[in-house]
Amino acid sequence: PVPPTKSSAKLNFTSVAGSRLDAVVVPEGYTAQVLAPWGTPLNTKAAPWKNDGSNTADDQANSVGMHHDGMHFFPLNDAGDDGLLCINHEYIDEDALHPTGQTFDPTSGLRTVIDEVRKEINAHGVSVVRIKLMNNQWEVVSNDGHNRRFTGATVMDISGPLAYSSLLETRYSPDGSQARGTLNNCGNGYTPWGTYLTCEENWPGYFANRGSLTADQSRIGISKTSTRYGWDDLAGHDEERLDEFARFDVTPKGASAQDDYRNEANGHGYIVEIDPYNATSRAVKRTALGRFRHEGCTFGKLTEGKPVVFYSGHDSQFEYLYKFVSNAAWDAKDADSSNRLQTGDKYMDEGTLYAAKFNENGGGIWLPLTLDSQTTDGKTLSDSFATLADIILNTAGAADLVSATPMDRPEWCAVDPFTGSAYFTLTNNSKRTEANPANPRLKNYFGHIIRWDEGDKATEFTWDIFVFGSPSDGNAETNLSGLTDLNQFASPDGLAFDKRGILWVQTDNGAKEVAEETNDQMLAIVPSTLVDGQEKQVGVTADNQMELKRFFVGPNDCEVTGFAISPDYTSVFANIQHPGNWPYSSNAAEQTPAGITLRPRAATVVIRKSDGKEVAV
Ligand code: FEO
Ligand code: CA
Ligand code: CA
Ligand code: CA
Repeated sequence: PVPPTKSSAKLNFTSVAGSRLDAVVVPEGYTAQVLAPWGTPLNTKAAPWKNDGSNTADDQANSVGMHHDGMHFFPLNDAGDDGLLCINHEYIDEDALHPTGQTFDPTSGLRTVIDEVRKEINAHGVSVVRIKLMNNQWEVVSNDGHNRRFTGATVMDISGPLAYSSLLETRYSPDGSQARGTLNNCGNGYTPWGTYLTCEENWPGYFANRGSLTADQSRIGISKTSTRYGWDDLAGHDEERLDEFARFDVTPKGASAQDDYRNEANGHGYIVEIDPYNATSRAVKRTALGRFRHEGCTFGKLTEGKPVVFYSGHDSQFEYLYKFVSNAAWDAKDADSSNRLQTGDKYMDEGTLYAAKFNENGGGIWLPLTLDSQTTDGKTLSDSFATLADIILNTAGAADLVSATPMDRPEWCAVDPFTGSAYFTLTNNSKRTEANPANPRLKNYFGHIIRWDEGDKATEFTWDIFVFGSPSDGNAETNLSGLTDLNQFASPDGLAFDKRGILWVQTDNGAKEVAEETNDQMLAIVPSTLVDGQEKQVGVTADNQMELKRFFVGPNDCEVTGFAISPDYTSVFANIQHPGNWPYSSNAAEQTPAGITLRPRAATVVIRKSDGKEVAV
């Protein structure tokens, strides 16, 4: 049978009003439940979370991390009531993490407490959490054999063009086959063969080179002065500095890579593959997919016998969109492979990386990043790079040379399961002073979502802009998509399709015109059912029916990010990151509401219908 080209889903909930409360908002007839907040023990090695910040680094290594972000649900049965939730932990709130914030030596300004620094490293990374639905409530299954943490210190394998390269030789891994830790895990992906992809986003800030920056370090933004949390230098702890913490200082000091930590950052900036079903497997950093500030990673529509495609954006102002095309042709039998990471080797280690160029006429070109690729000055990338590994190390620098299109902060991608169209959030770019076709707004405070379809050739695509973020304040010049009070949004960030063809849009908004009306939120739409020609007017259709509906609003100060859904569509999971500023400011208007004495905790929220039926339809 020919598969349908349109979704049959129809959104059947009332769009919720904007909200600015210390509470979540769900549609009428729905319930919300907090699951797996920061500090939830995964096993009995961890003490229960304490509100005074006194949990240890070991507790943290055995508990759910901080600042939940991307997420995916991996089922363990067909009923959809038992599975593994993989959760990214992007970064930390150091004030909430410790009893009274970070401790510094007053003279040197250096960190002094080893357990504090270890706790910070352990609060980063990924959690794999067994969860079960019991009496309409999801519960974490403590001590389950699948439960595990990947942290900023966990040993991981390197695969693809940079594996075993001299660029990755470190004291820890003299043959360049491994790296330690994953950091700033923001968006995520998953694979058709049942693995989780965690994406390393703002990792450059965790390293510093106080000597001369290399070309790739300079392009990506490694600091010349300091590391984000001061992990690289601990006052009076020379012994520990030798390795565990000193590795974040990548200044060349000795004669070779064995004498210092010059290559340590080269092990970061990748898509990392995790097999959640195999608790003894190591995570694998897939270097073929490029090295930059990866926000997310999403595979394109699968066709038997054709390559597997992954999309990933570089979230920074004026950065690029990328796709990776596997050399191997898709074999549907691999979806059930029992050696999932070996299947990852097959599809993610060999292939071609491209950067996107958007043209005026709604057409676009994928520009390959290979040694023989033509650069805009009439040369080839081989004039600037000696090997493919060199290109990957400085992916953004290579994309500069072929003139990819600078975008308004590429965040997440989602692919329509019916049409194969790819949707991409461009969250905002207040610094844009020169428009290009795909980023037409100057000082783009509100962001937009772009969409493309692959052409017949792997190097061509067609595109349009799906929706522009905006306040619904009646300014037609800003409100290009006709948004209303019931769906105005800004700074689209998290993005995911469920298999019914519903597109879920999450926001991380800093634009005050919308933030004054509503906290961050999650909206839903079924794009494949929109009438042709109305795609850009997603706010209201011809019969005045709202098509883009607000499904959820988060509590004050949070961002809503990370989407997962149970296979029976009865539970939607979303993450609440950095709720509630901590400590509450001395500004009276921002002080803690009366009676609230708990530290704020990032958490997953599960949204279900009160009758336990499918959500949203
Ligand atoms: Fe971590 Fe681009 O958001
Ligand atoms: Ca994000
Ligand atoms: Ca964001
Ligand atoms: Ca965030």
